[in-house]
Amino acid sequence: MKKLSLAAASLSLLAAPAFAGDPAAGEAAFGQCQTCHVVATEDGEVLAGRNARSGPNLYGIVGRQAGTVDGFRYQASIVQAGEEGLVWDEENLVPYLLNPPGFLTETLGSRARSGMSHRVRTEDQARDLVAFLAQFGAAPAEEEAED
Ligand code: HEC
Repeated sequence: MKKLSLAAASLSLLAAPAFAGDPAAGEAAFGQCQTCHVVATEDGEVLAGRNARSGPNLYGIVGRQAGTVDGFRYQASIVQAGEEGLVWDEENLVPYLLNPPGFLTETLGSRARSGMSHRVRTEDQARDLVAFLAQFGAAPAEEEAED
């Protein structure tokens, strides 16, 4: 019995990653991000935001290695965290959004600098934002099987 329900649970996880947040609420909360970030496809189609580029394009950010958007000039800390294996998912994006330098410092185990000073106020809002952002980009399970 236990085994069966475990299998069912992981199957449904594969079919649709269960994000705890509410994407519609996340869309509204994205207003605070769009002064710096856009969500745009590789062809340049803007899916969210107003084409701001002082932060990296957030298309496909969930499932992506940290600090790897082409052509964006990151601070060294986030690039290092990515090289050490940080791949964005719900569990790490939430603490990052609540406190970017604090999260990077904890991840690297040494004092880190963040190029992003903005902080999301509540964990619920951070989860909503992650659920919203997770809608854009390739499904990591299918298309990003690089290694
Ligand atoms: C004032 C500008 C600004 C605002 C507002 C802002 N960001 Fe950022 N964000 C940045 C910059 C700059 C970076 C690159 C950080 C670095 O180099 O350390 C970044 C990085 C990120 C990253 C990591 C990207 C990667 O490629 O690894 C995520 C995720 C992110 N921001 C999400 C958000 C979300 C969601 C919001 C809204 C709640 C937001 N940001 C608001 C400027 C901003």
